[in-house]
Amino acid sequence: MTDTDQNAQPRSETLETYASSYAGVFGPPRLALARGEGSRVWDEDGREYLDLLGGIAVNSVGHAHPRWVEAVSRQAGVLVHVSNFFATRPQADLAQRLLSLAGMPAGSAAFLVNSGTEALEAAFKLARRHGQEKGGRHEIIAFSGAFHGRTMGALALTSKAAYREPFEPLPGGVRHIPYGDAAAAADAVTERTAAVVVEPVQGEAGVVLPDAQFLRSLRRITREAGALLIVDEVQTGIGRTGQWLASAGVEPDAVTLAKGLGGGFPIGALLTRGAEVSSLLGPGQHGTTFGGNPLAAAAALETLSILDEEGLLENARLRGEQLEHGLMRVPGVVAVRQAGLLVGMDLSEEFDAPALVAEAQRAGFILNATGPKTLRLAPPLVITERQIDHFLTSLPTLLAAQTASERTS
Ligand SMILES: Cc1ncc(COP(=O)(O)O)c(C=O)c1O
Repeated sequence: MTDTDQNAQPRSETLETYASSYAGVFGPPRLALARGEGSRVWDEDGREYLDLLGGIAVNSVGHAHPRWVEAVSRQAGVLVHVSNFFATRPQADLAQRLLSLAGMPAGSAAFLVNSGTEALEAAFKLARRHGQEKGGRHEIIAFSGAFHGRTMGALALTSKAAYREPFEPLPGGVRHIPYGDAAAAADAVTERTAAVVVEPVQGEAGVVLPDAQFLRSLRRITREAGALLIVDEVQTGIGRTGQWLASAGVEPDAVTLAKGLGGGFPIGALLTRGAEVSSLLGPGQHGTTFGGNPLAAAAALETLSILDEEGLLENARLRGEQLEHGLMRVPGVVAVRQAGLLVGMDLSEEFDAPALVAEAQRAGFILNATGPKTLRLAPPLVITERQIDHFLTSLPTLLAAQTASERTS
């Protein structure tokens, strides 16, 4: 089938078919997208967009990177799935590579899954096992504003009431305390605490950055109390913040990964530090049919090589700074929070973030609002200086168009 055949349906037909047949959990899709290349995507009518969302921090090496396409196609023609009765080279190599980039010592282990929420489920079970080993510690400390996923364990760690309440009762024992507040953590973590689960930056909450010492304080507090420190790097990991891990140097007991790891292929991971923590989940205590399959592992291995060889961690740092400096100069932008290419920005009172997203889409930019006045940018890490400049120079006009359309409506 040619590209034209695949995209032969008019845009409205795809959206109509979606509306009549897809689960209603996401709300109506904004567009039907047909293809992508680097940091750009095209809709079914051939309109081009600069993708400043990157599939919500997923398309780390950009859309349709030729090396990634080649690696995935090659592996698809060799071996795709074997079950966990067998090992494969991509799976073993990826586990080793992840432990090495996380700076984990001998005895550490990687467990591969298919998504972020599955990585958090595994982490939740790790915390429970640790609690049992320590004589029955049931409590897990998480944070207000936290997002850790939608399955029941991950949801118990997530703080937003609208996500939690329709599904209660959730697994018990989770307590949420204020994010970024090391003193509150020092009070909350006791001999009853099995683990603390924390995001280095709260992405879904609008890119909330804690004080630079916060993670280190949590490391000290958990170590003193004999609790695990589990850092959720599903959104921040794999170069997004300009480092392989945003928790580099903190030495967490466990790290969860997903999103950018597969460059768009569904894959996640739980990394556990050292032999003692890694042996908490023993034979038969956890599992997955698809997790660690050679196709997903090959996609992730190629993603890591591309990020490394094309200097994309440095690009994340430089482009993130460019965005921050440029955004600060745009009238109407009142705050910018930046960790590499994970950027949050707040608009002043007269603006509306969802309306700006709609206006930007009309002008060829894909943006994301995390709140009424807040936007999150998480573009592919291959985004160029010129592409960011193009967005920065267009933003004042987009904001002006919003106030103009409000005046006429
Ligand atoms: C920090 C964090 N943890 C976990 C998840 C859940 O990942 P997934 O949507 O792949 O299940 C997300 C998703 O946004 C996330 O940002």
